[in-house]
Amino acid sequence: MIHTTDKPKIGIIIGSNRPARVCQAVAEWAMQTMADNQLTYELIDLAEIDLPFLDEPDIPARHHYTKAHTKQWSDIISNYDGFVLVFPQYNWGYPAVLKNALDFLYDEWSGKPVSIMCYGGHGGFQATLAMKLVTQGLHMYNMSSNPPLDIDEEMFDEHGQFKDIEAAFGCYTIPLQAVSAEFRSLLLSPSTTTQA
Ligand SMILES: Cc1cc2nc3c(=O)[nH]c(=O)nc-3n(C[C@H](O)[C@H](O)[C@H](O)COP(=O)(O)O)c2cc1C
Repeated sequence: MIHTTDKPKIGIIIGSNRPARVCQAVAEWAMQTMADNQLTYELIDLAEIDLPFLDEPDIPARHHYTKAHTKQWSDIISNYDGFVLVFPQYNWGYPAVLKNALDFLYDEWSGKPVSIMCYGGHGGFQATLAMKLVTQGLHMYNMSSNPPLDIDEEMFDEHGQFKDIEAAFGCYTIPLQAVSAEFRSLLLSPSTTTQA
Protein backbone atom coordinates (compact mmCIF):
# COMPACT_ATOMS: atom_id res chain seq x y z
CA MET A 1 0.00 0.00 0.00
CA ILE A 2 1.32 3.46 -0.91
CA HIS A 3 1.39 5.99 1.92
CA THR A 4 1.62 9.55 0.73
CA THR A 5 1.71 13.03 2.14
CA ASP A 6 0.06 14.32 -1.07
CA LYS A 7 -3.70 14.25 -1.54
CA PRO A 8 -4.49 10.74 -2.80
CA LYS A 9 -6.41 10.63 -6.09
CA ILE A 10 -9.36 8.28 -6.22
CA GLY A 11 -11.01 7.40 -9.54
CA ILE A 12 -14.75 6.76 -9.45
CA ILE A 13 -15.38 4.51 -12.43
CA ILE A 14 -18.81 4.87 -14.05
CA GLY A 15 -19.39 1.21 -14.87
CA SER A 16 -22.42 1.33 -17.17
CA ASN A 17 -22.41 2.83 -20.67
CA ARG A 18 -26.08 2.25 -21.53
CA PRO A 19 -27.61 5.26 -23.36
CA ALA A 20 -30.36 5.54 -20.69
CA ARG A 21 -28.12 4.59 -17.76
CA VAL A 22 -28.59 5.86 -14.22
CA CYS A 23 -24.96 5.05 -13.39
CA GLN A 24 -23.71 8.57 -14.04
CA ALA A 25 -26.26 10.00 -11.58
CA VAL A 26 -25.26 7.38 -8.97
CA ALA A 27 -21.54 8.10 -9.45
CA GLU A 28 -22.07 11.89 -9.23
CA TRP A 29 -24.16 11.46 -6.08
CA ALA A 30 -21.47 9.15 -4.63
CA MET A 31 -18.70 11.68 -5.40
CA GLN A 32 -20.65 14.43 -3.66
CA THR A 33 -21.46 12.23 -0.66
CA MET A 34 -17.89 10.93 -0.22
CA ALA A 35 -16.35 14.45 -0.55
CA ASP A 36 -13.40 14.70 1.81
CA ASN A 37 -10.86 17.50 2.02
CA GLN A 38 -7.98 15.00 2.30
CA LEU A 39 -8.88 13.10 -0.88
CA THR A 40 -9.37 14.04 -4.52
CA TYR A 41 -12.20 12.20 -6.23
CA GLU A 42 -12.57 12.23 -10.03
CA LEU A 43 -15.08 10.54 -12.32
CA ILE A 44 -13.84 8.14 -15.01
CA ASP A 45 -16.63 7.58 -17.51
CA LEU A 46 -16.31 4.35 -19.52
CA ALA A 47 -18.84 5.70 -22.05
CA GLU A 48 -16.41 8.55 -22.82
CA ILE A 49 -13.29 6.35 -22.73
CA ASP A 50 -15.08 4.12 -25.26
CA LEU A 51 -12.63 1.20 -25.34
CA PRO A 52 -13.18 -1.52 -27.97
CA PHE A 53 -13.35 -5.13 -26.80
CA LEU A 54 -9.89 -6.18 -25.68
CA ASP A 55 -7.83 -6.22 -28.88
CA GLU A 56 -4.21 -6.50 -27.69
CA PRO A 57 -2.25 -9.47 -29.05
CA ASP A 58 -0.37 -10.14 -25.80
CA ILE A 59 -1.78 -10.65 -22.32
CA PRO A 60 -2.01 -7.40 -20.28
CA ALA A 61 0.20 -8.76 -17.47
CA ARG A 62 3.19 -8.52 -19.88
CA HIS A 63 2.51 -4.83 -20.51
CA HIS A 64 3.43 -5.04 -24.24
CA TYR A 65 0.75 -2.59 -25.29
CA THR A 66 0.46 -1.95 -29.03
CA LYS A 67 -2.69 0.18 -29.34
CA ALA A 68 -2.98 3.91 -28.65
CA HIS A 69 -6.25 3.40 -26.72
CA THR A 70 -4.56 0.87 -24.39
CA LYS A 71 -1.64 3.23 -23.71
CA GLN A 72 -4.05 6.11 -23.01
CA TRP A 73 -6.15 3.95 -20.68
CA SER A 74 -2.97 2.79 -18.92
CA ASP A 75 -1.85 6.42 -18.44
CA ILE A 76 -5.25 7.37 -17.00
CA ILE A 77 -5.40 4.49 -14.51
CA SER A 78 -1.72 4.81 -13.48
CA ASN A 79 -2.53 8.31 -12.29
CA TYR A 80 -4.85 7.11 -9.49
CA ASP A 81 -4.09 5.75 -6.01
CA GLY A 82 -7.42 3.97 -5.52
CA PHE A 83 -10.80 3.34 -7.11
CA VAL A 84 -14.52 3.19 -6.46
CA LEU A 85 -16.33 0.97 -8.95
CA VAL A 86 -19.92 2.19 -9.39
CA PHE A 87 -21.98 -0.22 -11.46
CA PRO A 88 -25.39 -1.90 -11.76
CA GLN A 89 -26.08 -5.58 -11.32
CA TYR A 90 -26.78 -7.21 -14.70
CA ASN A 91 -28.15 -10.76 -14.48
CA TRP A 92 -26.37 -11.31 -11.15
CA GLY A 93 -23.08 -10.13 -12.64
CA TYR A 94 -21.28 -6.92 -13.58
CA PRO A 95 -21.58 -4.99 -16.88
CA ALA A 96 -19.34 -6.28 -19.67
CA VAL A 97 -18.01 -2.78 -20.34
CA LEU A 98 -16.55 -2.64 -16.83
CA LYS A 99 -14.99 -6.11 -16.98
CA ASN A 100 -13.48 -5.25 -20.37
CA ALA A 101 -11.98 -2.02 -19.02
CA LEU A 102 -10.48 -3.92 -16.07
CA ASP A 103 -9.14 -6.71 -18.31
CA PHE A 104 -7.28 -4.25 -20.60
CA LEU A 105 -4.68 -3.57 -17.87
CA TYR A 106 -2.99 -5.41 -15.04
CA ASP A 107 -0.11 -3.77 -13.13
CA GLU A 108 -1.96 -0.45 -13.18
CA TRP A 109 -4.60 -1.89 -10.81
CA SER A 110 -2.28 -3.98 -8.67
CA GLY A 111 -2.06 -3.20 -4.94
CA LYS A 112 -4.50 -0.28 -5.17
CA PRO A 113 -7.49 -0.15 -2.82
CA VAL A 114 -10.89 -0.59 -4.40
CA SER A 115 -14.39 -0.07 -3.04
CA ILE A 116 -17.20 -1.86 -4.85
CA MET A 117 -20.41 0.16 -5.02
CA CYS A 118 -23.03 -1.87 -6.84
CA TYR A 119 -26.71 -1.00 -7.16
CA GLY A 120 -29.57 -3.40 -7.81
CA GLY A 121 -32.26 -5.44 -6.11
CA HIS A 122 -31.01 -6.56 -2.66
CA GLY A 123 -28.10 -4.14 -3.11
CA GLY A 124 -26.71 -6.06 -6.09
CA PHE A 125 -25.00 -8.47 -3.75
CA GLN A 126 -24.44 -11.21 -6.35
CA ALA A 127 -22.60 -8.78 -8.67
CA THR A 128 -20.63 -7.41 -5.72
CA LEU A 129 -19.46 -10.93 -4.86
CA ALA A 130 -18.59 -11.62 -8.50
CA MET A 131 -16.61 -8.37 -8.77
CA LYS A 132 -14.68 -9.08 -5.55
CA LEU A 133 -13.21 -12.18 -7.23
CA VAL A 134 -12.16 -10.12 -10.25
CA THR A 135 -10.50 -7.37 -8.21
CA GLN A 136 -8.77 -10.03 -6.12
CA GLY A 137 -7.55 -11.66 -9.34
CA LEU A 138 -6.10 -8.28 -10.34
CA HIS A 139 -4.29 -8.15 -6.96
CA MET A 140 -6.17 -5.04 -5.92
CA TYR A 141 -6.74 -4.41 -2.21
CA ASN A 142 -10.42 -5.21 -1.57
CA MET A 143 -11.63 -2.66 0.96
CA SER A 144 -14.03 -3.44 3.83
CA SER A 145 -16.34 -0.59 2.77
CA ASN A 146 -18.45 -1.74 -0.18
CA PRO A 147 -21.86 -0.05 0.19
CA PRO A 148 -24.62 -2.17 -1.40
CA LEU A 149 -27.15 0.28 -2.90
CA ASP A 150 -30.61 -1.21 -2.91
CA ILE A 151 -32.93 -0.03 -5.69
CA ASP A 152 -36.60 -0.67 -6.43
CA GLU A 153 -39.02 0.46 -9.12
CA GLU A 154 -40.63 3.10 -6.89
CA MET A 155 -37.44 5.18 -7.08
CA PHE A 156 -37.69 5.72 -10.84
CA ASP A 157 -39.81 7.92 -13.11
CA GLU A 158 -41.40 6.90 -16.42
CA HIS A 159 -38.04 7.45 -18.20
CA GLY A 160 -36.24 5.09 -15.83
CA GLN A 161 -34.37 7.94 -14.09
CA PHE A 162 -34.24 8.62 -10.34
CA LYS A 163 -37.15 10.75 -9.13
CA ASP A 164 -35.00 11.96 -6.23
CA ILE A 165 -31.65 10.30 -5.72
CA GLU A 166 -31.10 12.00 -2.34
CA ALA A 167 -34.35 10.52 -1.05
CA ALA A 168 -33.53 7.12 -2.56
CA PHE A 169 -29.95 6.88 -1.24
CA GLY A 170 -29.87 9.28 1.72
CA CYS A 171 -29.67 6.27 4.08
CA TYR A 172 -26.24 5.43 2.60
CA THR A 173 -24.54 8.69 3.61
CA ILE A 174 -22.68 7.15 6.56
CA PRO A 175 -21.53 4.02 4.63
CA LEU A 176 -20.22 6.28 1.85
CA GLN A 177 -18.37 8.49 4.30
CA ALA A 178 -16.86 5.28 5.70
CA VAL A 179 -15.39 4.63 2.23
CA SER A 180 -13.52 7.96 2.45
CA ALA A 181 -12.39 7.21 6.00
CA GLU A 182 -10.99 3.87 4.84
CA PHE A 183 -9.18 5.47 1.87
CA ARG A 184 -7.65 7.99 4.28
CA SER A 185 -6.44 5.33 6.67
CA LEU A 186 -5.01 3.23 3.80
CA LEU A 187 -3.42 5.95 1.70
CA LEU A 188 -2.35 8.78 3.99
CA SER A 189 0.66 8.67 6.26
CA PRO A 190 -0.55 8.47 9.88
CA SER A 191 0.91 11.94 10.59
CA THR A 192 -1.26 13.59 7.92
CA THR A 193 -4.53 11.79 8.73
CA THR A 194 -7.02 13.89 10.66
CA GLN A 195 -10.53 13.18 11.73
CA ALA A 196 -12.99 14.50 9.10
C1 LIG B 1 -29.04 -6.33 -18.96
C2 LIG B 1 -29.67 -6.01 -17.64
C3 LIG B 1 -29.70 -6.96 -16.65
C4 LIG B 1 -30.23 -6.66 -15.39
N1 LIG B 1 -30.16 -7.58 -14.39
C5 LIG B 1 -30.52 -7.25 -13.13
C6 LIG B 1 -30.30 -8.14 -12.03
O1 LIG B 1 -29.80 -9.23 -12.16
N2 LIG B 1 -30.68 -7.73 -10.80
C7 LIG B 1 -31.21 -6.50 -10.58
O2 LIG B 1 -31.51 -6.17 -9.43
N3 LIG B 1 -31.43 -5.63 -11.59
C8 LIG B 1 -31.09 -5.97 -12.85
N4 LIG B 1 -31.28 -5.09 -13.89
C9 LIG B 1 -31.92 -3.80 -13.61
C10 LIG B 1 -30.86 -2.74 -13.38
O3 LIG B 1 -30.36 -2.80 -12.06
C11 LIG B 1 -31.42 -1.34 -13.64
O4 LIG B 1 -31.96 -1.32 -14.96
C12 LIG B 1 -30.37 -0.26 -13.56
O5 LIG B 1 -30.96 0.98 -13.81
C13 LIG B 1 -29.25 -0.47 -14.57
O6 LIG B 1 -28.24 0.48 -14.36
P1 LIG B 1 -27.86 1.50 -15.55
O7 LIG B 1 -29.14 2.24 -15.88
O8 LIG B 1 -26.85 2.43 -14.94
O9 LIG B 1 -27.31 0.70 -16.70
C14 LIG B 1 -30.78 -5.38 -15.15
C15 LIG B 1 -30.76 -4.43 -16.18
C16 LIG B 1 -30.20 -4.71 -17.40
C17 LIG B 1 -30.15 -3.65 -18.47
